[in-house]
Amino acid sequence: MTDLIESPDASEPIKNPGLQEHQERPQDVDPKAASRTERQISGMFGLATLLMLGFCVAYVTIDKDQTFLGWSAMNFTLGATLGGALLLMGVGIIQWAKKLMGDHEIIEMRHPVASTTEDREAVLKDLNQGIKESAIGRRPLIRNSLLGAMGALGLPAVILLGDLGPLPHGQRNTVWKKGMRVVNDVSGTPIKPSDLEVGALVNAEPAIMYETDEHGEHVLHGKELLQAKSKAAVIVVRMRPEDVTPSKGRENWGIDGILCYSKICTHVGCPISLYEQQTHHVLCPCHQSTFDLADNGKVIFGPAHRALPQLPLAVDSEGYLIAVSDFPHIVGPSYPELARDQKKLDKKS
Ligand code: FES
Repeated sequence: MTDLIESPDASEPIKNPGLQEHQERPQDVDPKAASRTERQISGMFGLATLLMLGFCVAYVTIDKDQTFLGWSAMNFTLGATLGGALLLMGVGIIQWAKKLMGDHEIIEMRHPVASTTEDREAVLKDLNQGIKESAIGRRPLIRNSLLGAMGALGLPAVILLGDLGPLPHGQRNTVWKKGMRVVNDVSGTPIKPSDLEVGALVNAEPAIMYETDEHGEHVLHGKELLQAKSKAAVIVVRMRPEDVTPSKGRENWGIDGILCYSKICTHVGCPISLYEQQTHHVLCPCHQSTFDLADNGKVIFGPAHRALPQLPLAVDSEGYLIAVSDFPHIVGPSYPELARDQKKLDKKS
């Protein structure tokens, strides 16, 4: 076993190749080559400037819902222009440093950093002694099973990725459906329009959260209930009907100034609740996105990009508020493929 690691004396010393003869760069000897390189580099910087301007123009002009090859056209353009500009600037700077900046060779003297021969021999002796005593060469079963266990160490990390939750595709619908009652999220009682005064805001849920089957068991429970709660939570507000400015197609989504919106912020999904009844604005406490509930849940401030999804309401034969359908727009935070998912939802409805 002693010959597993070679003694330092057996290694070949590496010859010092010395410095190569200094090569002049074309730009150092030919002024035309130098000015050509200068033009190339400034061309790259100029193009980078144009791309930066393109970035600003794209940000202002491209519709957020527009798609390109299935991707958000805005994200694609912003990424391409900014990425291209940074790449050109990087390449330009490297070319400038390599071809035009001063080209002096500098010699820095270094002292040997190797340990003494005695130290290295002592370390090798200890190491070989350890290898001998571990009997790793004579116990292939142990060695191979240890290698197998070390290889398997990565498996739990892969399995744990499953805890990150389901992929977003196909998961954007909620449990709301036509005719489902809107109930108070604390008491579980159905809500009548007469329960709400002008200026009121009530946190609510779909009635299915409280429904039981023939055995008295809740229809939804465990993980299913939690997922449904997290996506279907809503706020119901009442304002004066003349204050509401519904966009085209939403004229019948409210009842006498009573409107229902998703409680999940479209930025990164915090629950919203800070309501200012005079202005009809609701504020998300996480990053201060503000939505105008009188104006279709539009974003009026903050980092959210999409309006709060609105749930169309009606009243059932007993006078309780019910949903007309699931949310026509996707609830929850935005992500790049959202436009594609929304299109599929639009096709289905
Ligand atoms: S999660 Fe609402 S503003 Fe960020």
